[in-house]
Amino acid sequence: MNENIEFLQAFLKNPGTVGSITPSSPELAQRMLNGIEPGPDDVVVELGVGTGAITKYLQQIVPDESSYLGIELDGGLVRSLRKNFPDMKIVRGNAMDARAIHKRTGFGKVSYVICCLPFVSLPNEVGEKILLEVDKFMQQGCTFRTFQYAHGYYFPSAIKLREFMRNRYGKSKRSPLIVKNVPPAYTLTWSTL
Ligand SMILES: C[S@@+](CC[C@H](N)C(=O)[O-])C[C@H]1O[C@@H](n2cnc3c(N)ncnc32)[C@H](O)[C@@H]1O
Repeated sequence: MNENIEFLQAFLKNPGTVGSITPSSPELAQRMLNGIEPGPDDVVVELGVGTGAITKYLQQIVPDESSYLGIELDGGLVRSLRKNFPDMKIVRGNAMDARAIHKRTGFGKVSYVICCLPFVSLPNEVGEKILLEVDKFMQQGCTFRTFQYAHGYYFPSAIKLREFMRNRYGKSKRSPLIVKNVPPAYTLTWSTL
């Protein structure tokens, strides 16, 4: 099935958790991976894989099959992701359990978290739990990158995420506005590596 149609279907089924009507554009995907250079001892965790708009670029840069772990909530999306990315480890699960899911894989240290979750439309308590999971990876030395849509940048939950990270890890590195994405977005990065 066409990626855009599949994504739209997932959005219509669960608008709050999918959070957008289209997958990330190649411009946003490449910006999300700018400077991400995993070595053989690094694991990249992708939260909210969707239809794999970012995964297809990650596939080109991860050293091997135990260097990538994708976590996606939607069972239908996970089924087609596994067909499209047979060499990538994609788990159907909740980002709220990211640390336990990672432990179960037996993979090495998480050096990068690429987060595509729509915090703006997730329930507050879910967003808070996910940030606490991210924090566990950050405490071990990790780079966390996410994107926020321009129109939602000052929504309370978007501000809350930035405050949570800023209070622990300082000011983010923010990209220029990526206008070639629907909707336009910024990427935000914090690092303890
Ligand atoms: C905005 S889409 C991004 C998809 C893709 N990475 C992209 O950039 O096009 C968000 C994805 O996060 C997934 N998601 C939402 N809440 C989640 C959670 N708690 N745990 C894991 N995945 C979740 C949704 O099902 C959806 O596929």
